[in-house]
Amino acid sequence: MKKASSSFVCQECGYNSPQYLGKCPECGSWNTLKEFKIAGSKKQATGSHKDTSELKPRTLSEIKSTTNQRISTGFSEMDRVLGGGIVSGSLILLAGDPGVGKSTLLLQAVMKISETTKGSVLYISGEESEEQIKIRAERLSKKENKNLFLLATSQTDSVVEIIEKEKPSLVIIDSIQTMESEAVAGLSGSVGQIRYATSVFLKAAKSLSIPLIIVGHVTKEGMVAGPMMLSHMVDTVLFLEGEKVTQTRILRSLKNRFGPVDEVGVFLMDGEGLKEANNPEQLFLNLSSKKVSGSVLTVTMEGTRPFLVEIQALTVFSKLPIPRRVATGIDSRRLELLLAVLTKHCKIPLDGVDVFVNVAGGLKITDPGADLAICLALFSSYKNIALSKTVGVAEVGLLGELRNVPSAEKRIAEAKKLGFKDVVTAKDYSFLFQVIRSLQ
Ligand code: TYD
Ligand code: MG
Repeated sequence: MKKASSSFVCQECGYNSPQYLGKCPECGSWNTLKEFKIAGSKKQATGSHKDTSELKPRTLSEIKSTTNQRISTGFSEMDRVLGGGIVSGSLILLAGDPGVGKSTLLLQAVMKISETTKGSVLYISGEESEEQIKIRAERLSKKENKNLFLLATSQTDSVVEIIEKEKPSLVIIDSIQTMESEAVAGLSGSVGQIRYATSVFLKAAKSLSIPLIIVGHVTKEGMVAGPMMLSHMVDTVLFLEGEKVTQTRILRSLKNRFGPVDEVGVFLMDGEGLKEANNPEQLFLNLSSKKVSGSVLTVTMEGTRPFLVEIQALTVFSKLPIPRRVATGIDSRRLELLLAVLTKHCKIPLDGVDVFVNVAGGLKITDPGADLAICLALFSSYKNIALSKTVGVAEVGLLGELRNVPSAEKRIAEAKKLGFKDVVTAKDYSFLFQVIRSLQ
């Protein structure tokens, strides 16, 4: 048996070093490297490997096709994000802020799944007791459920044993942060524990062809830390987002080996759990008849879906030496860039002005097609001109030029369908200053 040795793992990003370092070379954080003892034999820590004589490469035709073995979640919105349902043997990470509704979504899904599938569904919770889950389940559905099994435990190794013994048709692990094993050092939630648990669950999912969904709490700051460092190990990463104050919850796929990425599902949270949104295109729209300045519409693409959203801007003269730039729902660097374009190419002096931009309804936009609407909303607030029925769909370049965006026809059609005729695109004008001149 080899001598036990140490490894130093960064608690922020998971960087691994054989010696202690004060600063992590990967993510640059200080004092985040923690020592982990590596057991003498690696086989012991991660389960035994197959004997090499058992390993035999097979041709594609020898391998059984499993494409149509997908389990429907009972939510068409969730199935679409997954690419048609849960693939057997896949490992799915459902990430999101604490309290956003991950447990609620999965509990509702497993209650529906266990009604339709023949096999059992196992819901492992390290956060709540079985009684607490029952209270929640009773609130979500009144139906009797014989195939759904609950277990409150946080022991990684026992969970794997139970999965191997019971062979359920689906397993939920809520959450990966609560799972711990004596095989690895560190408390539950540490990088070592999370990595170990994920790797043993991954092996169980693949070897038994059982789909597994693991829940991971991720805050906005922790996108790369914590469970997100597992994204390369899992087949699919879903992200549930939404502000707690609003009802809207958006489910996105950030990675999917078996379906599209960037597809979204829209849900509404109420007293009886999550419901699928009927008209998601209109969810972020505030159809007020009042004429107000600082509001312009845009159509953003989320996966293959167009969404009509309202961009709000507010500009006020600043008393600060460095005026404020506050962006909610858009990237603040993008806002800085658009402000520079407006100042330089459109002669709108925004240097001494506090600027606030907000995407109504709590949606987060990364689509550059919203650029024109952001610029027009800023112009509208600055000049006090109401443009609340105008829809802008174009990317704005550094030279103030308007660029066409993907799926432009689909976006325009969506705006017109909802009754907005005044759509400005890169086809109508070549430069931003021309649009602004036409509005003055
Ligand atoms: P939860 O699913 O426990 O969040 P997570 O697992 O992501 O941490 O959701 C908790 C929140 O959802 C809580 O603030 C209350 C709210 N909620 C409802 O509004 N309606 C409901 O029917 C349920 C079950 C929860
Ligand atoms: Mg939870």
